[in-house]
Amino acid sequence: MRIILIGCGVVGQSFAQILVRREAELVKNYGFHPRVVAIVDRGGAAVNPKGLDLEKVLPLKAEKGTVALSSEGGRPDMSALDVIESVEAEAMVEVTPTNIKDGEPALSHIKTAFKSGKHVVTTNKGPLALALPALTELADYNKVYLRFSGTVGAGTPVLELAKKCLLGDRILSIRGILNGTTNYILTEMDEKHITFQQALKNAQKLGYAEADPSMDVDGLDAACKLVIMANWIMDKKVTLRNVKIQGIRNITLQALEEAAKKGCTVKLIGSINDDLKVVPTEISRHDPICVGGVLNAVTFFSEFAGEETVIGRGAGGLETASTILRDLLDIKQNLATKLVA
Ligand code: HSE
Repeated sequence: MRIILIGCGVVGQSFAQILVRREAELVKNYGFHPRVVAIVDRGGAAVNPKGLDLEKVLPLKAEKGTVALSSEGGRPDMSALDVIESVEAEAMVEVTPTNIKDGEPALSHIKTAFKSGKHVVTTNKGPLALALPALTELADYNKVYLRFSGTVGAGTPVLELAKKCLLGDRILSIRGILNGTTNYILTEMDEKHITFQQALKNAQKLGYAEADPSMDVDGLDAACKLVIMANWIMDKKVTLRNVKIQGIRNITLQALEEAAKKGCTVKLIGSINDDLKVVPTEISRHDPICVGGVLNAVTFFSEFAGEETVIGRGAGGLETASTILRDLLDIKQNLATKLVA
């Protein structure tokens, strides 16, 4: 499978590292021969139709900051859209930073890839939160696959558990902690009796929260994940506009202390019932989704199998990158089934 990699930050580089590390097993165990024929970053592109030598490109990226200075196919003049339109490949992996205002530039990358017949794997929540119903339609129209397992729960298989393991059942509702940074902040406030501002500073020092922590602390990141789950798992046609969102900036130590007296704590809970909500909520310490630190936890309420909870790390470069490989293998398996059907 020829792959174009758009975005070469932490997740993009981690994905390339996984391909290098697992090359032999991917061939042996799955008959999968991934070939990265182009990489695009802010400085331009590196293109080699025969497949880039990732063991050379990765150190160069680390040293010079861009793949475009590579002696092997370096193209500082080429944009992402040029590459997607002109380089032959079966799949595009889109890992540019999330933008929830208009989804760009990822939205254009994805649409262009579809139009040129390329399957898309992305970890970018922006385009999905704003336009997932339209994007799945466009993928179907162009007869290509769109996969995005890493957008919810990073490496924890949240979407796959519901979509694949509960195949044939019906998910009635979903409830969970979908953002690691806010969970870390609330856990710190609860356990160390420090204020929101102090806990936020700790989260920033540890690299969990961005300098502008709004996406996390105002509940937007969790809301994006909720939209993706509602569309993909429950077939609801919703976007970010349909979510009631309240962040954790106003959570006080007093609120946590009051909750503690009742054997409870406060968590930022995302839920999908008749409506979609991300709201700080008092929950029992015995609730299966009551996890600490940066963990995520999601409970599915299904018609037949009942309640199932999945818990795991919801962030991280390698964790998120591992889902790209899973999604590419899923596409490969789907294509193989189609050929024999
Ligand atoms: N910033 C997110 C979190 C990780 O803290 O959960 C990426 O989804």
